Amino acid sequence: MTSQENFLQHCQQRIQPWLEQFLQQQNQLSEPLAAAMRYAVLNGGKRVRPALVYGACLACGGDMAQADSAAGAVELVHCYSLVHDDLPCMDDDDLRRGVPTCHKAFDEATALLAGDTLQALAFVALSQRGLSDSQKSQQVQKLALASSNMAVGQALDLAGEGQQLSIAQLEQIHRHKTGALITASVLMGAIAAGCTDTASLQALETYATKLGLAFQVHDDVLDVIGDTQKLGKQAGADAQHAKATYPALLGLAQAQQLATQLHDEAIFALKALGCKANALVWLADFLVDRDH
Ligand code: IPE
Ligand code: IPE
Ligand code: MG
Ligand code: MG
Ligand code: MG
Repeated sequence: MTSQENFLQHCQQRIQPWLEQFLQQQNQLSEPLAAAMRYAVLNGGKRVRPALVYGACLACGGDMAQADSAAGAVELVHCYSLVHDDLPCMDDDDLRRGVPTCHKAFDEATALLAGDTLQALAFVALSQRGLSDSQKSQQVQKLALASSNMAVGQALDLAGEGQQLSIAQLEQIHRHKTGALITASVLMGAIAAGCTDTASLQALETYATKLGLAFQVHDDVLDVIGDTQKLGKQAGADAQHAKATYPALLGLAQAQQLATQLHDEAIFALKALGCKANALVWLADFLVDRDH
């Protein structure tokens, strides 16, 4: 097993019980809403965003325990975004993380409300004890803005179906719908570590911005070359919806090349942080090489 898989697995094993416990504590929830939320959150997932939170916290000299609530909160927002992304009024997908999408396993109204509730509870997670008030409010601000930008990106993505967009327009969609939450994950990890060094924060932001775009370019590539079983979601769905994607606009080879170039630029930005940023380097390697 490579180092990046080791680190990712370590993060997965750390965040899974956190998420289970957090959802279990929400005894104000009714059924089937609570069941739909557990289904959407606990059903696998690579936990890339929590790993980025932890990796950035380590890169800034922090301890993983300081980053738990931020790691959990970004994953809750991410899971909410997937539930809504799959709804019939959006990408209309039946398969997610290898199982029926939330609205298929439950119903549309329950899935919609599960997403709403997960987003709101992410902010409850961030307000828990542990960090200083200033750290918590900075994290709340980062996550709220990223979540809002994600919705902006999703709106642009839907409006772009069947359209011939420019590279600049496509980049804007991807930076919003996916890049924003990835950048917030990295910066929230730095905040959890108490990092205030402007140069380090700038380096992390550059890393995250490059990687966030690379991540979605690779997701677009996987939709073309990936295998439904391995992906755990329907391959070829983008073409079916005439989505504006990098392979559609640039061709497959050039899209793959762009992901590699962005990966290299992301890693270059980490040089300033030295070997403390190793986990972030491993994650970048994994993310542009993944088959799921
Ligand atoms: C899928 O994200 C949605 C995108 C933003 C491209 P992931 O590939 O991180 O999905 P999971 O969480 O591992 O299922
Ligand atoms: C999803 O992008 C981005 C968000 C969920 C915000 P996609 O629509 O490409 O994600 P997949 O391919 O369904 O996972
Ligand atoms: Mg989508
Ligand atoms: Mg989708
Ligand atoms: Mg996709």
